[in-house]
Amino acid sequence: MASVHSLASTVQQRLADALSAALPEAGSTDPLLRRSDRADFQANGILALAKKLKGNPRELATKVTDALAAPDLLKDVEVSGPGFLNITLTDRAIIETLAARAADDRLGVPLKANPGVTVIDYAQPNVAKEMHVGHLRSAVIGDALRGMLDFTGEKTVGRHHIGDWGTQFGMLIQYLIENPGELAPADAVDGEQAMSNLNRVYKASRAVFDSDEEFKERARKRVVALQSGDKETLELWQQFVDESKVYFYSVFEKLDMEIRDDEIVGESAYNDLMPETARLLEESGVAVRSNGALVVFFDEIRGKDDQPVPLIVQKADGGFGYAASDLSAIRNRVTELDATTLIYVVDVRQSLHFKMVFETARRAGWLGDDVTAHNMGYGTVLGADGKPFKTREGETVKLEDLLDEAVERATAVVREKAEKIGLTEEEIVENGRYVGIGAVKYADLSTSANRDYKFDLDQMVSLNGDTSVYLQYAYARIKSILRKADDATPAAHPELELAPAERALGLHLDAFGELLTEATAEYAPHKLAAYLYQLASLFTTFYDQCPVIKPRPEQDVVENRLLLCELTARTLHQGMALLGIRTPERL
Ligand code: ARG
Repeated sequence: MASVHSLASTVQQRLADALSAALPEAGSTDPLLRRSDRADFQANGILALAKKLKGNPRELATKVTDALAAPDLLKDVEVSGPGFLNITLTDRAIIETLAARAADDRLGVPLKANPGVTVIDYAQPNVAKEMHVGHLRSAVIGDALRGMLDFTGEKTVGRHHIGDWGTQFGMLIQYLIENPGELAPADAVDGEQAMSNLNRVYKASRAVFDSDEEFKERARKRVVALQSGDKETLELWQQFVDESKVYFYSVFEKLDMEIRDDEIVGESAYNDLMPETARLLEESGVAVRSNGALVVFFDEIRGKDDQPVPLIVQKADGGFGYAASDLSAIRNRVTELDATTLIYVVDVRQSLHFKMVFETARRAGWLGDDVTAHNMGYGTVLGADGKPFKTREGETVKLEDLLDEAVERATAVVREKAEKIGLTEEEIVENGRYVGIGAVKYADLSTSANRDYKFDLDQMVSLNGDTSVYLQYAYARIKSILRKADDATPAAHPELELAPAERALGLHLDAFGELLTEATAEYAPHKLAAYLYQLASLFTTFYDQCPVIKPRPEQDVVENRLLLCELTARTLHQGMALLGIRTPERL
């Protein structure tokens, strides 16, 4: 029996190795293998190689074909066009490689050779404010990226840079001093009560602030007290933060997402660093005084009327803002957390801010050549009408209402089939949650992050098309097949001939490791989503064309097909888990 290359090796990798071995003089030329309609793979690398060797590509292609010595691997190699190779693999090679994949817990996904530390800034709502769909995107994309990075061996540290500082706290705290008891203690409320309290206080204090000049003045003084660390003021501020966290956690829990308390490190956490950040920038000349404020200018960054847009590090009144906090956070993340990569999952409308912050940090030497900073700016969530998502009254949609509605609709979908498969009420409720939340996450993740997308619940919970529930059903269906076939277990039979649908499914499974590595390196969860969708589709075709248990084929064929079934299920499960989406066993 031909030896299987290695557990992590794919059939595509074996092919690449065989091609390189056929032409040792070419050194390490990439054979540029692509999946192809005409054969299993097309190798396009000969063209570039011929150019390099100053030879005729078709002749070189023929030479490679003659020298290829891998009878176990290759069924057919044919030169086509100006010098492409169309390559068909043996059925044996495909099944044997998949069998090795099945024996590997990591499904053939390699670990990164030189893992670094990625600090990922995501899920950053604002204190005393309702979360909106933008915060949903940051949380969902950040969580998925983190899952993918962790799985490929990178060390990740999360930072939830919540908006917990700023002049609005003067108003809020002053109001609370004058109206004590308006906020219940954080340990006495649930998420919903916490947010409704905060909303009430926010609205009421805003109303007094806008109508009462004297209150406004007291609120302004309160900001100063807060900034100078007055004890009573800080305690009340803390109460707002704690109450908000109760609410945040309730939303994250609804989202089926784990957020660690020690990773909630908001804007205020960098207060102590900010004066030094400003001093270092001023001393090094990176920032200059302009009308009393400390600012950084950029030749290349210009706004309206071609005027240079400065980054404001410190306002003329001495106050620090968003930029100072972000600059200080960079220093902390690089020196204290040893970050080699910084990722910010933030609305694309803040991309200019990050461009200026990164450039400033580079000039100051806080971001060296060995650290990569990347702003994953995501697009806007649109309503079904293609306009920014709003309620009919024109208000921003409450995230919680949206999630509740998604779960409600999903539960109805689940309930329809529940009786047939004998789900208990408890299972229906749980599945409804997994399907509903999965639908919301998948809709977000299956679009490239920088693009806008439509929040359309009807489409999201649809059983047909590129939705999470389609993938979840594919998974549950496979699990049901595996249960029903309990007298047969998955096993490789390399001597069997494969049907086209089996080959297509097998070759797609083979590509999982490479795809995941690529999607992770590009911070592109949508590529993983697309891969999984295609996997489910190929499975559907396979299952239509290749019976597994009904009508029952010969035992060898059953076992071989069960191997494909099981590997598909595990790959779906793993891929969805990385995206933060559950795959119920029975659906
Ligand atoms: N809280 C901000 C917002 O709601 C996002 C914070 C992004 N992270 C950062 N380091 N600036 O828009």
